[in-house]
Amino acid sequence: MIAKTTHPFLAACRREESSYTPVWLMRQAGRYMEEYRKLRAEHDFLELCKNSELASNITITPVERLGVDAAIIFADILLVLEPMGIGLEYAKNGGPVIHHPVRSGKDVDALKEFNVKEELSFVYEAVKKTCKALKTKVPLIGFAGAPFTLASYLIEGGGSRNYVHTKKFFYNAPEAWKRMMERLAKVITEYLNCQIAAGAEAVQLFDSWAGCLTPPDYEHFVLPYSKAVIDGITPGTPVIHFSTGTAGLLKHIRAAGGDVVGLDWRMNLDDAWKTVGHDIAIQGNLDPVALFASPKDIKARVGEILRRAEGHAGHIFNLGHGVLPETPVDHVIALVDAVHELSSR
Ligand code: CP3
Repeated sequence: MIAKTTHPFLAACRREESSYTPVWLMRQAGRYMEEYRKLRAEHDFLELCKNSELASNITITPVERLGVDAAIIFADILLVLEPMGIGLEYAKNGGPVIHHPVRSGKDVDALKEFNVKEELSFVYEAVKKTCKALKTKVPLIGFAGAPFTLASYLIEGGGSRNYVHTKKFFYNAPEAWKRMMERLAKVITEYLNCQIAAGAEAVQLFDSWAGCLTPPDYEHFVLPYSKAVIDGITPGTPVIHFSTGTAGLLKHIRAAGGDVVGLDWRMNLDDAWKTVGHDIAIQGNLDPVALFASPKDIKARVGEILRRAEGHAGHIFNLGHGVLPETPVDHVIALVDAVHELSSR
């Protein structure tokens, strides 16, 4: 039996050599897959997340269909906000909505304290079931939203274009901002450690909206809280620190911590790796829209990214953001095959 620590995904997290470049995809379980759409026709999204049996099956399906080198637990970054009593809803056609957004210090203090171990136990159950079903095939990644991305959802009440409410909050109420970010950091750290205790072998922190910030605002209002989360992760578990639109913030992202920096597609992988330093692993960074090109074209683009990583241990292949709902499944399979074929050494 191959020990899990020798798996190419975990080897890359630790910048150890392996026989090929490991690949997995953000949102590898989702609406582009017929199996998922069938389940979604019968259950709403939160129902799927809270049913550990179904969540575990959804997690495993892409591993078997695509041949990826890691699984990511089927859940959502906003699940940790629900027990705070903010009225989370996944609208039928559109993004998630928070019915009682946080707009003042008073609202921060009204956020419910809750038992992270008990109220989110369905996630840990799904992690346990998945690890059991995956046996030693591939490692399972746990995940959470980073404090800033979760705070921006809490404050805006949903997606946002300019993050006006969020920025106004830290400009005008820095003390309340600090209280909220400390609360979030504590909850996220415990949530990730519970996923690790249940069997997750690596964790990814999603700071998907950090790219809207100026470097000084990131440094002052965000970095200390992301750092607190990463510093609090159970030692020995690799942390992937992912963000988008942060080409100008990479040094700060690195300073906040993580064993792997996750990139979007808006920068060349070699430039980004030089910026963060080759003493840290890197993940990325194919444009998710490139999956709509022909398999031949996809392969050429994979080759280019692999060339940019050449010579350095610690590259995990991924998209620069999640798989889009209309993506053809056979193109996703072609991508995974191309990474394995072209990186074989
Ligand atoms: O990567 C995976 O396969 C694991 C599952 C996963 C989901 N959400 C499932 C999901 C992960 C890692 C996430 C992370 C997440 N969720 C992020 C960070 C990554 C990113 O995309 O930036 C964010 C910002 C969210 C919040 C969220 N959840 C949004 C904006 C939406 C609606 C829009 C969309 O992309 O679908 C969701 C819903 C959601 N989360 C779905 C899935 C499969 C679709 C729900 C459905 O079936 O309708």
